[in-house]
Amino acid sequence: MSTSFGVMLLGTGSSLPARSLRNGDFPASLDTSDEWIRSRTGIGERRIAAAGDTSASLGLAAARRALEAAQLDPADLDMIICATVTPDMMVPAAACLIQSGLGCRPIPAFDINAACTGFLYGLSIAAQFIRTGSCRRILVVGAETLSRIVDFSDRTTCVLFGDGAGAVVVGAADGQGRGEHWFRLYADGSRADYIRLNGARLRPPASSPAEPRPTDEFDFLRMNGREVFKFAVRTIIELVSESLAECNLSPADIDLVIPHQVNQRIIDAAFADLNFPTEKLMVNLDRYGNTSAASIPIALDEAMRTGRAAPGDRVLLIAFGGGLTWAGGVWTI
Ligand code: ACO
Repeated sequence: MSTSFGVMLLGTGSSLPARSLRNGDFPASLDTSDEWIRSRTGIGERRIAAAGDTSASLGLAAARRALEAAQLDPADLDMIICATVTPDMMVPAAACLIQSGLGCRPIPAFDINAACTGFLYGLSIAAQFIRTGSCRRILVVGAETLSRIVDFSDRTTCVLFGDGAGAVVVGAADGQGRGEHWFRLYADGSRADYIRLNGARLRPPASSPAEPRPTDEFDFLRMNGREVFKFAVRTIIELVSESLAECNLSPADIDLVIPHQVNQRIIDAAFADLNFPTEKLMVNLDRYGNTSAASIPIALDEAMRTGRAAPGDRVLLIAFGGGLTWAGGVWTI
């Protein structure tokens, strides 16, 4: 693990839309049930954005709470990274909207898309800038309004996802033992078809300015549920094993595991294969569903605010998603 240039967790925040959509609230035409959804996924309800909520507005609210928890001002930030697959618009980045909402200096602000792995990608990028000394404090946000891209007539996907945002402020370690970290990122674009959301690709390029171009084409998130299930179980097992081996740690050395909040059945299947105490697992997907890039920072914020995690704890972070992408991290917060 890297110890020389530690990266400390300075504060966390989250923001969940007020409206809850419970399993029983889906229309009869969807032909689903609370029993089916709970037994297959562990999800009981999920939050749905109000008309005025966007990924940037939820991300901004989460960022304000993270800054408050860190006892810092927007002026203290040197960079903003937002992980999202549902930015308010293609340009500008959600991170720029968050920067403007906070009233920051003209610090760099950009989005990254690594699907459900995006927050760990963002955290790892932040760690690099802090380790080189180019930045002292960075805001990393995971924010999604997946209800905008989910097909509510497709029962195989719409029951899985929810909206929300989580944020962390990280900074250079103070030399008191906190800040050790190890992050490893992966991607395999050959399995791009497992989870996809078509965007501009649907529109033909304007090879001739006279050619009529469709203006309202829109597609929904599509997923090969069975293949994603197998990939996710295998990936959790591999990432937990690799993280422990690379950091020379055993399960007893880990205080809390925060996996991407994908599906209880996936998490159970993976941990049944790992000799790991399941009471160390942080899971809140029963209340929020899968919030993609927001799931880990929302869970981390809940862990900090409820006392399940505290400064100085060693957490194991596990993420995987579209791309395919996946990442693991061991971090002494
Ligand atoms: N309610 C009722 N029936 C349903 C529902 C539903 N919500 N969804 C699917 N079914 C039906 C199917 O239509 C099918 O019916 P059929 O046999 O008549 O054709 C039947 O249930 C079985 O379908 P399967 O796809 O085999 O169901 P499975 O037990 O595999 O569960 C699920 C489906 C929950 C999607 C599962 O494959 C899964 O969890 N996959 C992982 C997907 C995931 O969590 N992705 C998250 C996004 S990606 C990420 O974050 C990494």
